[in-house]
Amino acid sequence: MRMSRRTSLTDDAATTVNPFLQGNFAPVREEVTADDLTVVGKLPPEMDGMFVRNGPNPQFPPIKNYHVFEGDGMLHGVRIQNGRASYRNRYIRTPYWKAENAAGRALFGSFLDPPSVAMMVGLIRNWLKRLPMVKNTANTALVCHDGRLLALWEGGEPHEIQVPDLDTVCTYNYGGRLKHQFTAHPKVDPATGEMLFFGYSMFKPSVQYGVVSARGELDGITAISIPRPVIMHDFAVTPRHTIFLDVPLTVSFKRLLRGQPLLKFEPELGARFGVLPRYGSGKDIKWFEVSPCYVFHTLNAYEDGDEVVLLACRTKEFPDSFFMPPTARAVGVAPIGKEFAPVMYRWRLNLKTGAAREEALDDVPTDFPRINEGLSGSQTRYGVSAGRASSCRARTPRRRTTVGS
Ligand SMILES: [Fe+2]
Repeated sequence: MRMSRRTSLTDDAATTVNPFLQGNFAPVREEVTADDLTVVGKLPPEMDGMFVRNGPNPQFPPIKNYHVFEGDGMLHGVRIQNGRASYRNRYIRTPYWKAENAAGRALFGSFLDPPSVAMMVGLIRNWLKRLPMVKNTANTALVCHDGRLLALWEGGEPHEIQVPDLDTVCTYNYGGRLKHQFTAHPKVDPATGEMLFFGYSMFKPSVQYGVVSARGELDGITAISIPRPVIMHDFAVTPRHTIFLDVPLTVSFKRLLRGQPLLKFEPELGARFGVLPRYGSGKDIKWFEVSPCYVFHTLNAYEDGDEVVLLACRTKEFPDSFFMPPTARAVGVAPIGKEFAPVMYRWRLNLKTGAAREEALDDVPTDFPRINEGLSGSQTRYGVSAGRASSCRARTPRRRTTVGS
């Protein structure tokens, strides 16, 4: 195995007291190229492709606070071709990453930081320029569409990535047509090849939605009105409908100015799911009241007669500690709080009657659900999701849930 390495950095005190920078969360700060990996057994010679994953990996120790959502995106890829395998990992070289790399230190604060004059000046400057309020880390997920690999972060534009070298090309905005945020979890329709996406913002219109054709053309975007800005992390699609989650993890600039958290779970505000025809205008959306909850990730959705069926990981509690500075908590304690316990849930939204029915399918905390994406939008029998071991021990069980009835 031939191997080369670039970039190395020592950690500092901020790293050693932050649970998001230790153990399984510890940053990888080397870029490695390893050709001709040792293969145990035999790789099928016809196998030709690359598996790439994305995740947060802070380039430098934080200025003060750090949340796992804020690390610079790093890609890890295994290339398999002609019966051989190679590995490489690369930072996503966003403009923000480049600025910090040139400075040799972190330049951007954390959303966990208490308000300060400098922070307010920076936020107002970004707001006036219609720039993301915080740095676009490109750290959350990837999508491959129209032969293009995009690294995604829901607060800003996608970054185009070159395969197989994993070099960053630049931000990608569909020839200037994309002028707002882009979800980290777009959906590709396996039948039509279309990619559906949305973006949410603190500013009106709070949600925008669009469809990219199989040929990579972004034709139209429609705005969807919601009462207040919320963190809308994921959505779901069926062949004819798109489902939006107006769940009450609210974003409040005013709250921040009062020295309170920017993000807060407010179940007393209620929760709604909106169903929009795939090519509809935002005003065509039909909202369904559901019991208050938060949903980070959906598993799938499909149509069943008059009903749109949604499967997702639902939590009814969302502890404030999720967005507290980790240094305020004991090291070694689960950094996201044990009250955060999403379980697999099913909602049936009747487009004819307007009724919503909901039920838990399991009682085991689980998230990051996936299906065979070739069946996205169809009624699938199985889904696979990750369970959380107690106290963040190394073992992370996987959960297979039967979801098809
Ligand atoms: Fe996600």
